[in-house]
Amino acid sequence: MIRPDVYIKDLERYKEQEVTICGWVYNIRSSGKVRFLLVRDGTGIVQCVVTPKGVSQEKFDRSDKIPQESSIIVRGKVRQDSRAPYCGYELDLSDYEVVSISQEYPIALKEHGVDFLMNHRHLWIRSYQQSMILRIRATEIKAIRDYFDSNGFVLVDAPIFTPNACEGTSTLFETNYFDKKAYLTQSGQLYMEAAAMALGKVYCFGPTFRAEKSKTRRHLTEFWMVEPEMAYHDLEDDMDIAEGLVSYIIESVINKHEKDLIALERDVEKLKNASKKPFYRIRYSEAVEIIKKGGLDIKFGDDFGGDEETVLTKQFDKPVFVTHYPIEIKAFYMKRDPKDPSFALNMDLLAPEGYGEIIGGGQREDDLDILLESIKKNNLPQEVFEWYLDVRRYGSVPHCGFGLGVERTLAYICGLHHVRETIPFPRLMDRLSP
Ligand code: 4AD
Ligand code: MG
Repeated sequence: MIRPDVYIKDLERYKEQEVTICGWVYNIRSSGKVRFLLVRDGTGIVQCVVTPKGVSQEKFDRSDKIPQESSIIVRGKVRQDSRAPYCGYELDLSDYEVVSISQEYPIALKEHGVDFLMNHRHLWIRSYQQSMILRIRATEIKAIRDYFDSNGFVLVDAPIFTPNACEGTSTLFETNYFDKKAYLTQSGQLYMEAAAMALGKVYCFGPTFRAEKSKTRRHLTEFWMVEPEMAYHDLEDDMDIAEGLVSYIIESVINKHEKDLIALERDVEKLKNASKKPFYRIRYSEAVEIIKKGGLDIKFGDDFGGDEETVLTKQFDKPVFVTHYPIEIKAFYMKRDPKDPSFALNMDLLAPEGYGEIIGGGQREDDLDILLESIKKNNLPQEVFEWYLDVRRYGSVPHCGFGLGVERTLAYICGLHHVRETIPFPRLMDRLSP
């Protein structure tokens, strides 16, 4: 069986020992009688020093003709050298074996346009930066699960085929379901509300779909969302939990990936500061004033788009909750503020530095009659919501929850301009492949 003996990320445990690494050729450089072979194995990149003394003369002669991305098994002694690129270790090669010679690799180590790279996404994910982002994504997802699992939440999976809209009918993906129509889920929230009455504190975590007809740096048509829902919790509790979650995600990523973030040119000090609780909490009406002062033409009652969020969050060094939006611009299930029912008891969490919304949520309408009225006002078909109304008919309680988008949060943490690099194979309005 071929199986790697050692992975590059673990080289520090093998100083001065001979190891075998299975990987791919990242780059080759010649300098006089020495050749430097950069080999990547999925966990990192190591520089291998090839000399005619170390390997045979024949292998030395052939070593500068191995094409980029050829698969290769290398054997050599591990030497610590702080100047060595990427990992701080080098391998003095005693032997190597090419497993498969690569054809001419389309992604050379030079600049390519985004469209070209996206068309080659299946190969682009091999690059140092892109593979690093995917590793950080895995850490983010683990942190999310750990946070909820260790705080008394039960994982409850929501369906993907749904009979109704949750977040407005304009972004629904319709699909045939035998002789009926079904929609791909926009959010598991309504199911989580039912589950919270069964299990107390719950969360679902899965892909969600929105037929977003906008090509912005914040929108995917398929994205991953975690959605907690809690019985006997109010808006303040909701924000406390959201704040704890985001702070824990940032800390977990920094603990494991500080070097990677620096390699991505992320300002880690800014992130560290941003992870410190408490976050800011302002009301929608205050946010509107800040945006106006920032020079945008906005009036009370308008929803925030990307530009507004950018202007607003450039004013903050930590995430900011915006609460109490006008009820008309929010979804039908939002609870009205008893002090002034023209406002919703909702919250969005906006990431600083111009990133914008990463969480949306709030308290849910728990009064059957008000909810019925809201369904009518929003022109939604009451029949498909009968099961949801049952949650109010049988033991209704104050409850709340939220949804955090994995990709937008990761774009903020890694300091990426566009969400398309935060998911392995992005789905956008104009991209369905590879
Ligand atoms: O604000 P949204 O639409 O809220 C809901 O879906 C609620 N039902 C969640 C809940 O209360 N359980 O979406 C929540 C988050 C956003 O803040 C954003 O991070 C992400 O989901 N999101 C998207 N991410 C990428 N592309 C899109 N098109 C997104 N739409 C929403
Ligand atoms: Mg939202």
